Amino acid sequence: MKSSVYLTSFLLCLLLNGNEACRPQIGTLLEGLLKFMQEGVKFSEEEPPDAKTLLREYDFIVVGAGSAGSVVANRLSEISEWDVLLIEAGRKENYVLDVPLYAHLWSLTDMNWHYKTVPNGKSCLSLENEQCRLHRGKVMGGSSTINFMASTRGNRRNYDHWRDLGNPGWGYDDVLPYFLKSEKITIPELANDKEYHSTSGELTVSYAPYRTPLADAFVQGGAELGYNIIDYNGATQTGFSYVQSTTKPGTRMSTSRAFLHPIRNRKNFHVQKGSLVTKLLIDPNTKIAFGVEFVRDNKKYEVRARKEVILSAGAINSPQLLMLSGIGPREHLNELNIPLIQDLKVGYNLMDHPWLPTAAFLVNQSVGITTIRLLPNVTVWDEFSLYHRGPFSVPGANEAIGFIDTRDPTNPDGDPNIELFPISACMASDPFLYKFLGYSEEFYNDVYKTIQNFPCFMPAPIVLQPKSRGRVTLKSADPHEKPLIHQNFYENPEDLETHLQAIKFALNLGKTQALQKFGSRLHDIPIPACSNLTFSSDDYWRCAAVQTSISIWHLSGTCKMGNSSDPDAVVDPRLKVYGVKGLRVIDASIMPMIPAAHTNVPSIMVGEKGADLVKEDWGVIPLSG
Ligand SMILES: Cc1cc2nc3c(=O)[nH]c(=O)nc-3n(C[C@H](O)[C@H](O)[C@H](O)COP(=O)(O)OP(=O)(O)OC[C@H]3O[C@@H](n4cnc5c(N)ncnc54)[C@H](O)[C@@H]3O)c2cc1C
Ligand SMILES: *[C@@H]1O[C@H](CO)[C@@H](O)[C@H](O)[C@H]1NC(C)=O
Ligand SMILES: *[C@@H]1O[C@H](CO)[C@@H](O)[C@H](O)[C@H]1NC(C)=O
Ligand SMILES: *[C@@H]1O[C@H](CO)[C@@H](O)[C@H](O)[C@H]1NC(C)=O
Ligand SMILES: *[C@@H]1O[C@H](CO)[C@@H](O)[C@H](O)[C@H]1NC(C)=O
Repeated sequence: MKSSVYLTSFLLCLLLNGNEACRPQIGTLLEGLLKFMQEGVKFSEEEPPDAKTLLREYDFIVVGAGSAGSVVANRLSEISEWDVLLIEAGRKENYVLDVPLYAHLWSLTDMNWHYKTVPNGKSCLSLENEQCRLHRGKVMGGSSTINFMASTRGNRRNYDHWRDLGNPGWGYDDVLPYFLKSEKITIPELANDKEYHSTSGELTVSYAPYRTPLADAFVQGGAELGYNIIDYNGATQTGFSYVQSTTKPGTRMSTSRAFLHPIRNRKNFHVQKGSLVTKLLIDPNTKIAFGVEFVRDNKKYEVRARKEVILSAGAINSPQLLMLSGIGPREHLNELNIPLIQDLKVGYNLMDHPWLPTAAFLVNQSVGITTIRLLPNVTVWDEFSLYHRGPFSVPGANEAIGFIDTRDPTNPDGDPNIELFPISACMASDPFLYKFLGYSEEFYNDVYKTIQNFPCFMPAPIVLQPKSRGRVTLKSADPHEKPLIHQNFYENPEDLETHLQAIKFALNLGKTQALQKFGSRLHDIPIPACSNLTFSSDDYWRCAAVQTSISIWHLSGTCKMGNSSDPDAVVDPRLKVYGVKGLRVIDASIMPMIPAAHTNVPSIMVGEKGADLVKEDWGVIPLSG
């Protein structure tokens, strides 16, 4: 790999002080590295350590320190009379790797659950074994620690729809205060809009301090296509914008950093990392959840909950744990000889957003972000280590966003059904990207090898309101075994047609003057499985989609929230599991419909709202509404 050669020669140059080009900069580089390391040490000391001794019993046990769980643990432990235990399977967050540009590298480590889809014959066909990779964070902060940091809320209609499906308290006007509660926006022009933004929360939301020329071109290109340049988290969502990200300008703001670091000294708050919850303890007669069983270093422990167990293990692991504990579809649990406690449609309604990373544009100047140019560049390292600026501060090389309603394209207040998530890089410009995305080396060699290290971008067309539904099932009753994830992309053929429209829209963006300025041209080596079709015809793109579209990791909906007349509901609108006492689910699994958004900030909102529901039910805050 050429980039490692560069890196090695760069390091040698440093060590031997032998290269004229790098000599003058060694001073600042060492200063930068030292500062970065000091920050890393400080960061690591700020993360709440494992509790030295666990109590036998807590008021609340929260399972999973992810996007929602971190918020729940923070808000509940505000009540000093409540003892709160937060259990996380993963380990501590690592600041040294927490460089926004290289967000994708996390998923290649053990901080990922490394799930894969079950083939459905209609998607992921060109991936190894026809399986797409489903990344999920297994680390403090959960998926917010390995994600791409885009901060998006979705459309107000998404939440009004939740309410109208039979979930009072979840309309847009109800949830907006919770979006605001967490947010601390650092973007001055947005901070003034008090109706839609807040500066008093824990979660910093910022623009990247660095932009490539492509960032402006994406936004201007959107304007050329007739779209407004908007704050997509404001009054309307349709249009183009620079991306708002959950970063403390230039570094990742995981939910662990935002919500757990500040409470490390709370006496009533305990954390237990590296601990896999294997079962919820539920009395089969009274159907009261009274604790959890977990495994740490091959030893089994039991810990009790006086008030409630709160499941925040995410859209794959929350349904898995419910089913392992006897809450799920009767027939499925019978097959696995798991004694049934409550028959509920756990694991159904799996939703996600498919996207297509294989429509790539080449650009003729060095405007994109190529790893090979950045890594040996001392200035780039310095800018980041000393000031959290420069190309390393761009989250996953994503610089802009466009939300479009193809059914009503000229309506400035449309209900977006597709998104472009332009990334100023493509599989040719980074040696690890194809692995992260899940493609084989053979696929990479066939399609990208000839343009390796070329500057390029991906417009990344996404389907926002998919009609296909998947399902999570257990492979066995063994809690250490990965569940089966039937993602079922394109099961409903309408999704493929919507994706085709999104792709064609993306191609139009590439043709705008703004991008033509950089000689933008579609990379035209076809996907091998589609090479018998006319390149870039509609049929070619349909083929490309079923062969190479992948998840953008917005898994949700598997413990659906609904009222008592909804036969598919797993939790009620107060997030309590039907038929069981003392048990709630608070994470992305409860979403009855996936919002037209990247799901981190919506999951954080669910955590905020969920924590208030708990507080209301235990009488510490008055019931709202
Ligand atoms: C690679 C990637 C990129 C993404 N990019 C974006 C983006 O740019 N913007 C955006 O908004 N969203 C993005 N997302 C999606 C977003 O991060 C998730 O939707 C969100 O974090 C889900 O929150 P959650 O609380 O439901 O689950 P998670 O954050 O996944 O938290 C679940 C936690 O529970 C723990 N856990 C699970 N099972 C157990 C167990 N049995 N015992 C103990 N602990 C357990 C897990 O280790 C994890 O820490 C991305 C996701 C990924 C993976
Ligand atoms: C549940 O919600 C639906 C849709 O809003 C409504 O028609 C129904 O009456 C509600 N049922 C109950 C029991 O509230
Ligand atoms: C290194 O990065 C700096 C700042 O981003 C840039 O100005 C410079 O041209 C780069 N040098 C090389 C050799 O690419
Ligand atoms: C890039 O392409 C554009 C459009 O084709 C052209 O005008 C411009 O001169 C090119 N720039 C370089 C450096 O090749
Ligand atoms: C193209 O090839 C695929 C298999 O690779 C096949 O399914 C399809 O029918 C072919 N299409 C045409 C038009 O030949």
